[in-house]
Amino acid sequence: MSIKGVVYKGAHEVAVEDVPEPELQNPTDVVIDVTSTCICGSDLHMYEGRTAADEGIVFGHEAMGVVEEVGEGVDSLDVGDRVSIPFNVACGHCKNCEQGKTGFCLNVNPDGGVPAGGAYGYVGMGPYQGGQAEKMRVPYADFNALKLPDEGHEDDFAMLADIFPTGWHGTELADLQPGESVAIFGAGPVGLMAAYSAKIKGASEIYVVDRVPSRLDLAEEHCDATPINFEEGNPVEQIIDANGGEVNKGVDAVGYQSVEPDEDRDDDEPYDPTKENPGVLINQLIRVVEPKGKLGIIGLYVPEDPGAPETISEMEAAGRLGIDFGKLFEKGQALATGQCDVKSYNRYLRDLIVAGRAEPSFVVSHRESLADAPEMYQKFDDREEGVTKVILEP
Ligand SMILES: NC(=O)c1ccc[n+]([C@@H]2O[C@H](COP(=O)([O-])OP(=O)(O)OC[C@H]3O[C@@H](n4cnc5c(N)ncnc54)[C@H](O)[C@@H]3O)[C@@H](O)[C@H]2O)c1
Ligand SMILES: [Zn+2]
Ligand SMILES: [Zn+2]
Repeated sequence: MSIKGVVYKGAHEVAVEDVPEPELQNPTDVVIDVTSTCICGSDLHMYEGRTAADEGIVFGHEAMGVVEEVGEGVDSLDVGDRVSIPFNVACGHCKNCEQGKTGFCLNVNPDGGVPAGGAYGYVGMGPYQGGQAEKMRVPYADFNALKLPDEGHEDDFAMLADIFPTGWHGTELADLQPGESVAIFGAGPVGLMAAYSAKIKGASEIYVVDRVPSRLDLAEEHCDATPINFEEGNPVEQIIDANGGEVNKGVDAVGYQSVEPDEDRDDDEPYDPTKENPGVLINQLIRVVEPKGKLGIIGLYVPEDPGAPETISEMEAAGRLGIDFGKLFEKGQALATGQCDVKSYNRYLRDLIVAGRAEPSFVVSHRESLADAPEMYQKFDDREEGVTKVILEP
């Protein structure tokens, strides 16, 4: 038996094809009927051929849906329950899971691709078929599935699998406190969720840096942020000018594929958004954040970049970036990194949505049929004006 799923066909190509129908493999599994599944900036690293992902992998780690089949060992879920599935696959009983570090579960990655942690539809993160498909198998379902109210808020809840918790995580890694100021680099869906989290937490000033006007507009409108367009000048200087000095905290929501700000180009020279500089953001954060400030790095960095452009050095392609560590030390700053532990936050963020105190779906620009995945991948990858978060509906 087969279902439809989004299959990686090689750099810049996906297709909607027949893939194996997920089945219960262990008594602790459930299978869900996917009702909403999003495309993520993390998928784009694979889509662009910038990871070790093999052709044939079924993409998708941001899924929600309705429980369709329940393993014998599952206690808390019934057929028909509406659930959000964290992008992390976690066992619930290892040392890291016990401490809430579910992005670094020690039992779910038999591939050995990374030291710890599993995810659906992701290279090096274990054998979990992706959720950009009609159905998805959820291991350790009692632990992983988060129950949702039967109806309403579909687009808001679709943000709970990854980006709302991940944006929140960025502000947690930076230890953002009420009344503090924060600079957030990247106004993609993740950066916007970090800015929205900063607003909910009561930040005094929020600066959001990007070059895509429609994304910066969302930051201004929904997160009360000051938009900083890095094409218009050095973002560090723009923020320090606007803030009257360095900010308290910083978040990187871009990662290793950050585009070169290229401040030295002539004004009449067209801007080249394909030129990358993988270390630039961390250095900008070190400069814009005050001494003893903290940097939360949620943008993705990789230890190998097989598709790195020629403009990037061999060292950089191996994840060894030119970071101003001396400056970081001089300023006594701390930096924290890594995958979001979705389960640490998703229950509470769900309840903010249910209570009407958060509407993260402001980032959703498109809800399209799963069949339109190839076109939507391309538009999202182009960071086309007006394309922010894309939900696919199987
Ligand atoms: N840590 C985690 O658990 C986790 C989870 C989800 C996503 N991510 C990562 O977060 C990052 C963002 O994801 P997304 O879905 O928002 O992706 P996205 O690609 O849509 O957004 C990235 C944004 O950064 C902007 N940008 C590029 N260079 C920049 C620069 N020099 N300065 C400021 N902005 C710049 C781009 O214009 C774009 O709007 C990705 O690296 C993704 O892999 C991490
Ligand atoms: Zn994601
Ligand atoms: Zn575990």
